[in-house]
Amino acid sequence: MSWVLFPIVDTFRSIYLRIMFEPIFEIYPALETERLFLTEIVDADAQRYHDIRTNSRVIKFMDRDPDKNVEETLKKLREITAARMKNESVNWGLRLKSSGEMIGDLGIWRLDNKHFRGEIGYSMHPDYYGKGLMTEALNRVLDYAFQDAKFHSLEANTHPDNESSIALLKKVGFKQEAYFTENYYYNGKFGDSRIFSLLERWRIK
Ligand SMILES: CC(C)(COP(=O)(O)OP(=O)(O)OC[C@H]1O[C@@H](n2cnc3c(N)ncnc32)[C@H](O)[C@@H]1OP(=O)(O)O)[C@@H](O)C(=O)NCCC(=O)NCCS
Repeated sequence: MSWVLFPIVDTFRSIYLRIMFEPIFEIYPALETERLFLTEIVDADAQRYHDIRTNSRVIKFMDRDPDKNVEETLKKLREITAARMKNESVNWGLRLKSSGEMIGDLGIWRLDNKHFRGEIGYSMHPDYYGKGLMTEALNRVLDYAFQDAKFHSLEANTHPDNESSIALLKKVGFKQEAYFTENYYYNGKFGDSRIFSLLERWRIK
């Protein structure tokens, strides 16, 4: 019977999403690529997530204070899960299939449901830079975002000097659509931002 019901439910879900865009993250969208599992970041990952998110190379262009300790990181992780349960954002931990190690994270947040739009963010431990792993993970998340969750456009906001991030974005098809001058205040200074967007038809695979 389920083979009859599933396509019907799926069709209604697609129609609903086209009329009332609200991606559903409550049922966690676990994903997979050739080398990675993309799964929820849980309490047990707090130390590793803390290590990645406080690494000086990772935070170089982030312009926000890193967590002071693992307890602060754990609190943040729980807030991230709570936001997912309210369909406000979704985050994936990137885990190597070969070892199970979490090497980074990738998420969609700052949803603008009225316009079928969201913002992406990501980070990876420097030990794994330059191996194409973030490109692999991002391409899978983009498939999910456009085909399953039905986003129409995605945004990425970068520090103007973050060459690695900009190279990654351009590689998958993002285009720079804005340059904001002194729109960001951190540590007593106003900094600039480059704003990138992606439509499904711009994707480069
Ligand atoms: C952004 C980040 C995930 C990119 O990781 P990565 O390991 O370079 O990703 P990939 O290996 O998938 O490479 C993506 C592409 O960018 C290119 N690239 C990476 N760094 C580059 C640089 N400094 N200059 C030019 N190209 C660069 C890579 O060569 C690759 O292209 P290629 O496959 O054609 O060679 C990583 O640098 C990171 O975690 N940075 C810190 C966190 C961060 O800045 N997050 C984004 C905030 S906006």
